[in-house]
Amino acid sequence: MFSSAWYKKSMPAFRVATAARSYDAIVENGIARRAAAYLPAGAGKLFVVSTEDVFQHVGGAMREALHTVPHELLTLPGGEDTKRLAPLEALAEKMVALGADRTSVILAFGGGIVTDMAGFLAAIFMRGIPVLQIPTTLLAQVDAAIGGKTGVNLACGKNLIGSFHQPLAVLIDPELLATLPPREYRAGLYEVIKSAVIASPALFDLLEAQREAVLQQHGATVEWMIAECVRIKVEVVSADEREMGLRKILNFGHTVGHALEAETAYRRFLHGEAVAFGMLAATRLAQLTGYVSPPAASRIETLVRAYGPIPDTAAIDPAALQKRLVSDKKTRQGHVHFVLPTAIGATQIVADVEPALVRQAIEYALQ
Ligand code: GLY
Repeated sequence: MFSSAWYKKSMPAFRVATAARSYDAIVENGIARRAAAYLPAGAGKLFVVSTEDVFQHVGGAMREALHTVPHELLTLPGGEDTKRLAPLEALAEKMVALGADRTSVILAFGGGIVTDMAGFLAAIFMRGIPVLQIPTTLLAQVDAAIGGKTGVNLACGKNLIGSFHQPLAVLIDPELLATLPPREYRAGLYEVIKSAVIASPALFDLLEAQREAVLQQHGATVEWMIAECVRIKVEVVSADEREMGLRKILNFGHTVGHALEAETAYRRFLHGEAVAFGMLAATRLAQLTGYVSPPAASRIETLVRAYGPIPDTAAIDPAALQKRLVSDKKTRQGHVHFVLPTAIGATQIVADVEPALVRQAIEYALQ
C-alpha cells in the first residue's frame, strides 16, 4: 500500500476520500495566503478560530488571504491544558452574538490544539457547519489537521470528547513554519518519526541521514518530509476513516503518550514530546515481546533520541501511567491495545500484553 514513488518536483495535493466527504490536502508554499479561494461559494459569515500567539507570528498570511473577505477573528487560549469544552461553549455564544447561522464557515488557523478544537466547534455548532483547516505547526501539518478527528480533553483522559468532522480542505503551507519556536518544531518531528516507523522506510532513512538539514528546516528536505507524511496520513484515512482497523497504526506511541499527558495535567509535555516517550515505551515493549528485532528497535530508539531532548520525566510514577492506559480510547472492554513496530515501516496491533512487560517498557522509557 505504501510507496514513495509519488514525489515530483512540484508540490503535491493528495485526495482524502471518505464516506463523509472527499477533499484535498494540499502541500504548497504560500497556499495560506490564497485561502479565500477554498471557501465555498455563497457561504455565510466566516469565523477564523486561532490563538493570539499564532496571530502574532503568522497572522499576516491570514490578513492577506482575507483582505476582501468579511470575517470575525475568535481566539482560543492555547495550551493543551485549556483544550476543554468550556472555551468552545464561550466561542459558540460569541458566534451567535455575531450573527452566525447554518451557512457560516469556520477557518481553523493554528496548531493541533486549534485544529482539533475549531474542528469540533464546527462539528457541533448548529449540528455542524463546514471547516477549512490551515495548520500552522509541523505537528498539525503532518497529522492533526488531516482526517477529520476533532475534540477536546477530559481531565481524566486525552481527546475523550469528540467527533469525526471532515474539512472542506487542508491547506498545508510549509512557509508558516519559519517562525515556529524550535521546541514546537521538534515536537512535530516526533510525529514525523511516527509516520516513518509505521509506513515509510524512505522517510526513516532521510531522518537518519539528514538530521541537520531537518533540524535547520532546510527547504526541500522539509517539504518532501511533510509531503511524505501527508501522503501516508491521507492513504490511511481514506482506507479507514473511522479507525476500525488500519487507522489505529497512527496511534503508535500514543497509548503511553496520552497517559503521560494526562498524568502531568497536560502541562509538562507538548503532545509530540509525549508521543516520543510513548514510542520509546512501545518499541521496548515490541522488543520484550519479540515483535521486533533488536537492531530495528535500536534504530528506532536512536532516531527518537537523536531529535531530543524530551522533557525530564523525573518523579513520574510508572504504576500511575500504567493504570491510566485503561482509559485510552483504543482500550476495548478493559483490553489495552498497543501499536507495536515489527520493522522499519511496519506495525502490528497487539492486545493483552503481559502487564509485567508493559511495566518494564514504561520503566525503561522513563530512565
Ligand atoms: N492522529 C491520529 C489520527 O488522526 O488517527
